[in-house]
Amino acid sequence: MSDKVVLAYSGGLDTSVAIRWLKEKYNLDVIALTIDVGNERDFSAIQQKALKVGAVKALVADAKELFVNHFIFPALQADAIYEGQYPLATALSRPLMAKLLADTAVEEGASAVAHGCTGKGNDQVRFEVSISALSPTLKIIAPAREWGMTREQTIEYAQRYDITVPATTSSPYSIDENLWGRSIECGVLEDPWVESPEEVFAWTTSASEAPDIPEYVEIGFDKGIPVTFNGHKLDGVSLIQRLNELAGRHGVGRIDHLENRLVGIKSREIYEAPAAIVLLQAHQALEAMTLSKDQLRFKQKVAQEYADLIYNGLWFTSLHQDLAAYVKSSQCYITGTVRLKLFKGSSSVVGRKSPKSLYNYGLATYDKGDEFDQSASPGFIHIWGLPVRTQVQVQLLGKAEGPLSIMIPKRKKQRRKG
Ligand code: ARG
Repeated sequence: MSDKVVLAYSGGLDTSVAIRWLKEKYNLDVIALTIDVGNERDFSAIQQKALKVGAVKALVADAKELFVNHFIFPALQADAIYEGQYPLATALSRPLMAKLLADTAVEEGASAVAHGCTGKGNDQVRFEVSISALSPTLKIIAPAREWGMTREQTIEYAQRYDITVPATTSSPYSIDENLWGRSIECGVLEDPWVESPEEVFAWTTSASEAPDIPEYVEIGFDKGIPVTFNGHKLDGVSLIQRLNELAGRHGVGRIDHLENRLVGIKSREIYEAPAAIVLLQAHQALEAMTLSKDQLRFKQKVAQEYADLIYNGLWFTSLHQDLAAYVKSSQCYITGTVRLKLFKGSSSVVGRKSPKSLYNYGLATYDKGDEFDQSASPGFIHIWGLPVRTQVQVQLLGKAEGPLSIMIPKRKKQRRKG
């Protein structure tokens, strides 16, 4: 009996060829594991295909709920966005897949796991760092990194072994998708000057084709977790699906990101993430209302660290554990409702309310009912400005003017003509 390998199987060209290749090259029986993280696919067709191509077993794991509750929502609570642009859909799914691969290997008595990543991307790092941390004795094989075939050669290989080449293979784009977003790379997108053609988008309408009438949506949060959609309670998976559909219809969620990969390459990535964009925006709006200025400032730093560690494949680390504890603690009053307006490619927060709001009408109003003691302001200004006055008078006034000086140059006297 030959040894077994659990392969993360997407049903695409590379992982289909990998089933055959793993048998040929390593004499391994392949157990195909397809993980459903909300990519709308025909999973039983994918299962059939794996068996047809030669897998000894084809498993499908519905991991949508786990993905939402254990990965997406904590990242939302953290406001994790990589380089200010990417809500991390793919990056978040990898540690979950790594865990399921490792678990399945144990259950099936396999000595190895395999994934379809190339040697140029982030995903190989995320998979392998996580798998080897969780199960150090598992052998990890990356066929597409090892076999050294070009795309054409891979297609030839598939044809030679009667592996149906998916229709999508004629598309020049490399696509990954799950509930939190969709990414598109390759083809003309590799020229960062070229605007992404309309054909790359599948979840979002172009702004010019989007409805001419704005639509409002209300998201209710409980401790930083979205729980209601227009007043109705919804489970996380359905809420994200509904929002992807609604915001996508209004053209919301397109991102064009020139991104810094972990392996040192700058790459141009197009994303569609309607629900992620809207939820992150709504969540931040509620935090603006319920966190203090200092909490907000500190949380922004945490958000960046959190995003980086997810992007860099460091999910299973103590730093993550520590930051997650902070994030969770910060969310105890992030409860309330945010109203957003979706219109022609943009979503904007137009209203927010919370039982734990720190916004105080009596303090903010310029109308009657003003409770702010304006007579206390001069004293505050006197003390706040004390170090500024001292420094300007002692050091900055009269300091040489020039490119390094913040002081404003004297205006040259202009001679009047005539
Ligand atoms: N650039 C994104 C990331 O690193 C998306 C990667 C998409 N992965 C893929 N195999 N197509 O997370």
